Amino acid sequence: MIKAIRGRLLWYVADPATEGAAARRYLEDGLLVVENGIVAAVGEAADLLPGLPAGTPVADHRPHIVAPGFIDAHIHYPQTQVVASFGATLLDWLERYTFVEEQLFADPAHAEAGARFFLDELLRNGTTTACVYGTVHPGSAEALFAESERRGTRMAAGKVMMDRGAPPGLVDTAESGYRDTKALIERWHGRGRQIYAISPRFALTSTEAQLEAAGQLAREHPDCLVQTHISENLREIEAVAALYPADRDYASVYDRFGLLGPRSLMGHCLHLTEEEFALFHARDAVAVFCPTSNTFLGSGLFDWGRMRDPRHPVRVAVATDIGGGTSYSMLATMGEAYKVLHLQGQTLTPDSAFHAMTLGNAVALGLDRLVGSFAPGHECDAVVLDAGATPATARRLERVRTIEEELFLLTTMGDDRAVRATYVMGELVHSA
Ligand code: GUN
Ligand code: ZN
Repeated sequence: MIKAIRGRLLWYVADPATEGAAARRYLEDGLLVVENGIVAAVGEAADLLPGLPAGTPVADHRPHIVAPGFIDAHIHYPQTQVVASFGATLLDWLERYTFVEEQLFADPAHAEAGARFFLDELLRNGTTTACVYGTVHPGSAEALFAESERRGTRMAAGKVMMDRGAPPGLVDTAESGYRDTKALIERWHGRGRQIYAISPRFALTSTEAQLEAAGQLAREHPDCLVQTHISENLREIEAVAALYPADRDYASVYDRFGLLGPRSLMGHCLHLTEEEFALFHARDAVAVFCPTSNTFLGSGLFDWGRMRDPRHPVRVAVATDIGGGTSYSMLATMGEAYKVLHLQGQTLTPDSAFHAMTLGNAVALGLDRLVGSFAPGHECDAVVLDAGATPATARRLERVRTIEEELFLLTTMGDDRAVRATYVMGELVHSA
């Protein structure tokens, strides 16, 4: 089955932080030729249209931008009714709001309805791939994977492992966490587009026995992702030091159990020490920047500049972290990222922002041969963007002269309203 998508095509082939504008591919009138959901060809519409078989359907999105579907590297699907909970910082926010809400996911029907809403909302925001936390209940991961499979989306997800520091309705054990995770990996990892992420929630909610079990799973399934939280909040860091007195620092706790590696997505990383930076670098682990969450929970400012220190460069991914985060939109997330970096005298160029939420996150998740780009052979997930979708952005757009200015308008003022359409494997799954 051949079809085509026409528009102002934008994608990246390298990191603009090192390659500058040469990292960007931009075609004013471009065409994506899609065969069985895969990009078969990409180029100027004038060059490719004459070669299409007669009757090939062409979805013409001019004058809008068509970019690879956004990737969200860290999001909690059970927290759609936790977002915007007032007046707390991490530890009391977890206790007062999050752990209360997550207990409802013991009910499979609640999990299934939550998964449906969640994927609808991601697609409305142009996000086609995410690395997703469930709750402790195996059924939460089951519901998310089943719904993702139905929609054909590429999702990574896992049930969280947590065997202490939470209400009785929200804990597993080292043994059951291992067994339930193993069963989910065997059922879902590599089935169609689904990927398993081994998910020990964080050091405060896992015993050493459970971190050991999580590390064993990571060794037994080296192509699974690992996701957890680290160094988000100063009181959290103190509590980790008290629980793990023999470890030099927070990162060393995870490292002792084999949980810090090139497939590890480490949420937050706001207060890392020099030694932790060096350890992250040595293990090639990924620091996940969640700007709206970090400002909302008053956790701190992510120091991307320090992640680029040539003595110990650390890989970075970007994410919403709903429901500590406040927007499902990766556009709004990158707008907040710009402000967080600006407060520290750093800058985030529009190219770096768009690269981060597409190819950059695909690289971080080890999926860059599959998603995040329009290079032939990639799965055709795409978002259609209108930088002038509201009266205020349409007015501002009148003064925009360059593609960089347009991209910056999209991340500064854009959100779900800028998303005109979303495609998964070349199929239209959302249309505004
Ligand atoms: N640390 C442990 N669990 C969580 C969570 O659900 N959200 C955030 N932001 N941090 C965490
Ligand atoms: Zn999180």
